[in-house]
Amino acid sequence: MSWHDPGGPGGGSGRGSVVTDAQVVHVGGTRPYDVVIGSGITVPATRRLLGGTRLVALVHPQCLHAAARDVAAALGEGPGAPRVELLAVPDGEPGKDLAVAARLWDQLSRLRLGRDDAVVGFGGGATTDLAGFVAAAWLRGVRVVHLPTSLLGMVDAAIGGKTAVNLPAGKNLVGAFHPPAGVVCDLDRLASLPPEERSSGLAEVAKCGFVADPALLGMLDRPEEQLAGLVARAVAVKARVVSADPRESGPREILNYGHTLGHAIERVEGFRWRHGAAISVGMVYAAGLSHRLLGLPEPDLKRHAAVLGALGLPVSYRPDAWPALLAAMRSDKKARAGSLRLVLLRRLADPVVLPVDEADLAAGYADVCS
Ligand SMILES: NC(=O)c1ccc[n+]([C@@H]2O[C@H](COP(=O)([O-])OP(=O)(O)OC[C@H]3O[C@@H](n4cnc5c(N)ncnc54)[C@H](O)[C@@H]3O)[C@@H](O)[C@H]2O)c1
Repeated sequence: MSWHDPGGPGGGSGRGSVVTDAQVVHVGGTRPYDVVIGSGITVPATRRLLGGTRLVALVHPQCLHAAARDVAAALGEGPGAPRVELLAVPDGEPGKDLAVAARLWDQLSRLRLGRDDAVVGFGGGATTDLAGFVAAAWLRGVRVVHLPTSLLGMVDAAIGGKTAVNLPAGKNLVGAFHPPAGVVCDLDRLASLPPEERSSGLAEVAKCGFVADPALLGMLDRPEEQLAGLVARAVAVKARVVSADPRESGPREILNYGHTLGHAIERVEGFRWRHGAAISVGMVYAAGLSHRLLGLPEPDLKRHAAVLGALGLPVSYRPDAWPALLAAMRSDKKARAGSLRLVLLRRLADPVVLPVDEADLAAGYADVCS
């Protein structure tokens, strides 16, 4: 599949290039869009999505400033190209803050960013969540294009239209559903990603393998060689699920595989663990419960620790932490009243959501500590 750069928004810049070998995954719903995956595609694919835009606010974390500046310069080059303004924000979770969002709205006001203009989110999942939220609320919603630079951002955060900032009371408590106009996953960006961030993203890829596409699990034997295929297949899993449930009213729940215990570990660790590390333990836990309660076959159970362990992810946790973990699971915003509901597997790629009582939850945890 090739994506042709029309040569700047007005066309005819003479710089028209072709995005070769890019893969495109379509996301359905009320405002459908494409996710483009490939190498060296940032500028041509983003230009195509910004066609006709006069002004672009490119939101990025300070630590990715040099890369963001290069993208802004290239996007703003040539006749008919938009004016691209760089807006720096704090890196990671500190950026997902109402005060940061308010500062961005103030900057958009000074720039006079209008309804036909666009916001671009350039960074990890924290930055695209923030940029998406700011775009969702500005003038009651302007176009946002996501350029995720982390693996987790590419396969998860930038897709599905969920945007949010954090409150002292909890993560992602204020947000909006605001699908992007498109997502550009340029695999070249991943070259500078720290190893622990790469593993964190690979945990989400493995999750897609367990709940929907077991072929991914084999490909994870050599992730570096298979990066394009891994990203495209994992994106396809997320796209399929969110297309069927754009506002998270049910089926999307399967994407929470491993997340109930994972979120609890993140809280108990004071968010010092990477998300992928926490859900890795969570998936081993969910697989153990699936084996106990639903007869998940032993080889599939063992495959969890084997695949995740080989990626350098943790597969067990502290025995003494159970009371704190249970309390955290109970207070998770996704927990329904009464017993906890977990995503479990009957077999690989056959997920179900099931209430699990406290005795089973504890017995399952004993397996994860041993
Ligand atoms: N909206 C959703 O549906 C959704 C889904 C999953 C996660 N999320 C959110 O995504 C966030 C987690 O995403 P994340 O792991 O990408 O976090 P992140 O944005 O904090 O990025 C992780 C770190 O990697 C750095 N980084 C990113 N790209 C880089 C690159 N190319 N080179 C070097 N360093 C780079 C970042 O600067 C940051 O320090 C959380 O806030 C989570 O709530 C949202």
